[in-house]
Amino acid sequence: MPKPSSRITGIVPSGKDGWEVHSAAWARKQAGEDIIMLSVGDHDFDTPSATIEACVDAVRGSNHHYTPLPGLPRLRKAMADASTACTGILTEPDDVIATQGGQAGLYAAVQGVLDPGDHAIVVAPYYATYPNTFGAAGASFTVVETPAEDGFQPRADMIRAALKPNTRAILINTPNNPTGAVYSRERLEQLAEICRERDLWLLSDEVYWTLGGGEHISPRSLPGMAERTLVINSMSKSHGMTGWRMGWLTGPKEMIRLLADLNLVTTYGLPAFISIACAEALENHYGVKEIAERYAARRTVFLDALRGVNEVTVRGSEGGMYVMLDVSSVEPDDEKFAWALLDKEKVGVMPGSSFGEAAAGHIRISLCQPEPILEEAALRLRRFASNYRREAA
Ligand SMILES: Cc1ncc(COP(=O)(O)O)c(C=O)c1O
Repeated sequence: MPKPSSRITGIVPSGKDGWEVHSAAWARKQAGEDIIMLSVGDHDFDTPSATIEACVDAVRGSNHHYTPLPGLPRLRKAMADASTACTGILTEPDDVIATQGGQAGLYAAVQGVLDPGDHAIVVAPYYATYPNTFGAAGASFTVVETPAEDGFQPRADMIRAALKPNTRAILINTPNNPTGAVYSRERLEQLAEICRERDLWLLSDEVYWTLGGGEHISPRSLPGMAERTLVINSMSKSHGMTGWRMGWLTGPKEMIRLLADLNLVTTYGLPAFISIACAEALENHYGVKEIAERYAARRTVFLDALRGVNEVTVRGSEGGMYVMLDVSSVEPDDEKFAWALLDKEKVGVMPGSSFGEAAAGHIRISLCQPEPILEEAALRLRRFASNYRREAA
């Protein structure tokens, strides 16, 4: 085979490879062991039936043709209305572009604001694809951690210290994967100040915005930020549609118009019948309330079941689909902890250090399991934590 491009060979896995624990847990479950999988970030339930019916009707209704590059007008209108609710800023269809899931939105945003050789700041702990998305654009990045003892909130002084003359963008995610932290207004205002002062783009991943603990605050709503913020949204989490691959970007009209050119050479538009089903799901909020309530109830049940376990400290865990537990007083090496928990109690979790150094000594628990299974997992975790220290001693 002739040599592949350095761009494609440079897209390498990031961080410590916590996925090994996940893969081992998965293989053992497939082999028939009673493993509880708390490492997967995908819903354990199907897409709401109303959305499925809308898609079936759309397929039967001859929607089999190309669609406009930025998305069907009806879909863009529905996305714009959702962005008005998410970001608190009146959003028009020309302010949004449909993308293939949040990930393609993130890719488009990074391609749209960074040239090769430019620099970005990635606030950590972060979603696993972030570093490689910058690598794919030929851009460099600096990871700035959010301290665990500060509830994984971003710190302006740490971000300022990482700025370089060629820094063009900051990427944040709230509610956060993996920590479940929901960034406070005060911290977002401090970030916005840096962006305005240094004329930076803020890439704001808000795919978990409906799964937050309280009011969702989008930095796009802060003074002077709508013109420099690209918000990444997705149908995956809010509407239970991970496999449908539909998301969108919200930003200044001129940038959105330019990003439509990227779709010309990538997706050439999105599937018509999926676009129609997504528009209907957005217009009618299919499943949104139920899914949000389900995750809120699961978070409460799981955290309640862990109450009184002195060795384990809950950090972040205010929103999203995950809970972050500081297990460093049981075992400082989170990867070792995750392997031992899998071996002894048959629970598969992600080691925190896979998501950046700030989450070292932590484990990420996915809430993508029904409540009784989460309760059983909490029981096994309790037992593991108390036995581990006794056995070590
Ligand atoms: C923080 C975050 N951003 C973006 C995505 C991408 O989601 P999708 O491409 O399914 O919309 C995910 C998926 O887990 C995520 O956790």
